[in-house]
Amino acid sequence: MSSQIPDHVPPDRVVEFDRFTSPVLQRCPHRGVAELFKNSPDIFYTTGDRGHWVVASATLARDMLRQTDKFSSDPAHNPANARKPPTLPNQADPPLHTELRRIINPFFSPAGVQKLEHSVRQLAGELIDEVLGRGHCEFLRELAQRFPVQLFMRMTNAPMEDREMLVAKVDRFTRAPDIQQRLAALGELGDYLKGMIAERERAPGDDLVSLAIHGTVHGRGLTDDEKLGMVNLLFLGGLDTVAAMLSFIMAYLGQHPAQYQRLVSDPELIGNAIEELMRVHGVAGMERGVTSDMSYAGVDFKAQDRLVFLPHVYGLDDQLVDDPFRVDFDRPISSHLVFGSGPHRCVGSHLARLEMKVFIEEWVRRIPAFSVAAEGDLPTRGGLVWSPVAVPLVWPVAETLAGQDIGAAA
Ligand code: HEM
Repeated sequence: MSSQIPDHVPPDRVVEFDRFTSPVLQRCPHRGVAELFKNSPDIFYTTGDRGHWVVASATLARDMLRQTDKFSSDPAHNPANARKPPTLPNQADPPLHTELRRIINPFFSPAGVQKLEHSVRQLAGELIDEVLGRGHCEFLRELAQRFPVQLFMRMTNAPMEDREMLVAKVDRFTRAPDIQQRLAALGELGDYLKGMIAERERAPGDDLVSLAIHGTVHGRGLTDDEKLGMVNLLFLGGLDTVAAMLSFIMAYLGQHPAQYQRLVSDPELIGNAIEELMRVHGVAGMERGVTSDMSYAGVDFKAQDRLVFLPHVYGLDDQLVDDPFRVDFDRPISSHLVFGSGPHRCVGSHLARLEMKVFIEEWVRRIPAFSVAAEGDLPTRGGLVWSPVAVPLVWPVAETLAGQDIGAAA
């Protein structure tokens, strides 16, 4: 959806780019958008998606995301990003944001997440074993979308039969180009979560939803809107991002057999490899609203201007990373902004890393070689979360190691 160019935007800062529909997002979006950004002003304006600024420079983005007083997450400063229900803590600024994060941080700390490793590994193994003997799968739909969702449903004690319905709603919220469709999907998700919250209020358990809704901020309990906002984002954050990123990573490994063979012969390398593959396959972005009229980095902003950040490609900015298009598993861990920067940095980053590392460990143990069953670059989709459309994979069945053999060898 295009809009007018506001009077305070100079023509030399206008670039046409729509994060939902631009053709550049339909194949190799990381390379395409990184190149677009390299040839654009550091901060440019687009009329796409109702009109907003885009921060194209990774180093500027890193600094701006730390300045919540100037670039706010509260929809009061960015009415175009108002949501019902809200997504919290993502749509609050400090000090409320700090209090809300305090409630969920312990669950997602490295130590908290480590406790989940056994069930993550078990689930990854079960899902891979379901397709192992077949020699092929459509990775996105059959494994990547089911893995984090199923794990998340276990963490929240949600009924497993609701899985496909929830995946469909999240997909509509993150990728429908029309804002009304996105908001409708969010409303439906909210109705589902209200039921879950009511149940946990009646009978609290030790699950993540119970933890989130029984927290306090500034010495008081959460309001109904805050409860719903927290549970809402815990669902949205956990369902789609890992599925999309794991799919990009598996597509890369299927298309680069020599890189995959390194992981098969040295599984200790998988942790580093994941870090490097995340850097070049960012999937999720964020928005902020400008709090007052100001000049920043040579740009004149007006209060309530929208700013969109695309960490999807910040790891490919040569001001942040040397030789950024070289994928090197031996590279010292480089900074990337795939999980954001500043106080809103992703609370689920340790869990996301664990899920992807464990999944690839289990895949490597069973499948010594595989490839992508399609020629050329795979079709992809833009949106709030970028994703491949489908990832068809094939492997020689004779060479696989069945689940029970692995159990006996472990
Ligand atoms: C590869 C997977 C993931 C990616 C790429 C990702 C990316 C991000 C990014 C970029 C942000 C910052 C948003 C902002 O600054 O406004 C964020 C925040 C957040 N993420 Fe993730 N995420 C991932 C996985 C997860 C998981 C597994 C969870 C678990 C529930 C999660 C929950 C959240 C929450 C609750 C926030 C809000 C934090 C805050 O506002 O303080 N994310 N994520």
